[in-house]
Parts: sequence; structure tokens; C-alpha cells
Amino acid sequence: MSADPTTDLYGPIDEYIQRLFVPDDPALRIALEAMEANQLHRINIPPTGGRLLYLLARLVGAARVLEIGTLGGYSAMWLARAVGPTGRVITLEADPRHAKVARASLDQTDLADRVEIRLGDGLASMNAMIEQGEGPFDFIFIDANKEAYPRYLEAALRLSHSGTVIVADNVIRDGAILRSPEESEDVRILQHFNTMLATDPRLESLILPLLGRSHVDGISISRVR
Ligand code: DHB
Ligand code: MG
Repeated sequence: MSADPTTDLYGPIDEYIQRLFVPDDPALRIALEAMEANQLHRINIPPTGGRLLYLLARLVGAARVLEIGTLGGYSAMWLARAVGPTGRVITLEADPRHAKVARASLDQTDLADRVEIRLGDGLASMNAMIEQGEGPFDFIFIDANKEAYPRYLEAALRLSHSGTVIVADNVIRDGAILRSPEESEDVRILQHFNTMLATDPRLESLILPLLGRSHVDGISISRVR
């Protein structure tokens, strides 16, 4: 626990926002309980992050969504809520255990038919989609292994149309992003990723800090020109 008075406000501020804007959703509760029961890492996006994904997808009227990194299906559920009963979410997951837990949770909800989980390496799945002319997607959420973020972004651009929103989780990492790139490979690659977001002429982007209980991360939001 930090004694920093600013950091100590993260939890109460996050709870305040959650209480106002994050409605109770039995499907999301099922996903979180299944993650707990199956001892999946609790590295899902926070509830406010889910609400942000939901709102962004609603704002652009997204009907076709692609997610890289399913984990327990928590964010896929938020996105499935956003696309509505006629929309579709394809979510890519490399770990069969994660995919199984996520599928079982989804199948207990009204969102089951909206979400397809594709098992396998995320980049390989994206390349197969590009080859087969699948897409384009209206909304793409990147939240998998950090060292592949730049390659996910390049593939995401090939699965986009003008106006597609590309969102990425974990681009601030509790301030680790400010450290020297020599300190960690993840930091070096995420710094490169964030620079791509800022400078690639195909994108218009911003990073928003996102508070957790006792840390701060960031979510990037990009629009494809
Ligand atoms: C990690 C991955 C995430 O996507 C996240 O939101 C938090 C942590 C991790 O691999 O440590
Ligand atoms: Mg994440």
C-alpha cells in the first residue's frame, strides 16, 4: 500500500465513478466468478475500462468487433453488450484453458450467440483473416501479449476501414512507460507502440490514463483515417 496521498485517492475515485456509471450485469459477474474459480490471472480490464470500451463501440455504432486476448471473456462481454443482438464479436485467444473458461461463461449468458472465440496465436489468426478477406471490423481491441502490440497494430490496420476505432490496453503500466527503454523489453516495445500511435499518418490517437484501485494504467484510442 502506498502512503502517497495522491495514489491513495485512486481507489475512492475509481469506486465513485464505478458506482455512478457501471451498472450491475449478471453476465459480467459470471465471467469474474469463473475466472476466480479457475484461478485465471485477474488481469482483466477494470469495470471503468469495460464501460469505456462499451461507450466507444456504441458511439461509432460498431456491429463487427475484433478482440485480441480473450482471457476470461470479461471485456468480450462488454463489447457484446455494445454491438447488440445483431452484432458480432470475434475474440482471439492463444491459451486453450482461457478459451474454455470464457466459452463456458458466455454460454451461461444471453451473449453466447454474439461472441466467437478463436483459439490460436493472435497474429496467425489475424493473418488468416486478412488472407481470407474477413473484415473489416468497426472496432478492434488489443489486450494480449505486449511484445506483439506493434504487429497486432499493423494487422489491425489491414482489418480496418476508414473510421474503425482501435483501442489498446496497458499502454502506461503504472508509469513504467516513463522509464528507460533499457530497463525492460515490454517497456521498450510499448514505448515504440505508443510512438506508432502518435506518428502513423493512418491514425489519429490519444492515450487516456485509467485508474485502478491502487495503480494507474492507460488505454489508447485511435481512429483509422
Ligand atoms: C498484464 C496483462 C494485461 O493485459 C493487463 O491488463 C495487466 C497485466 C500482464 O501480463 O501482466
Ligand atoms: Mg490488459
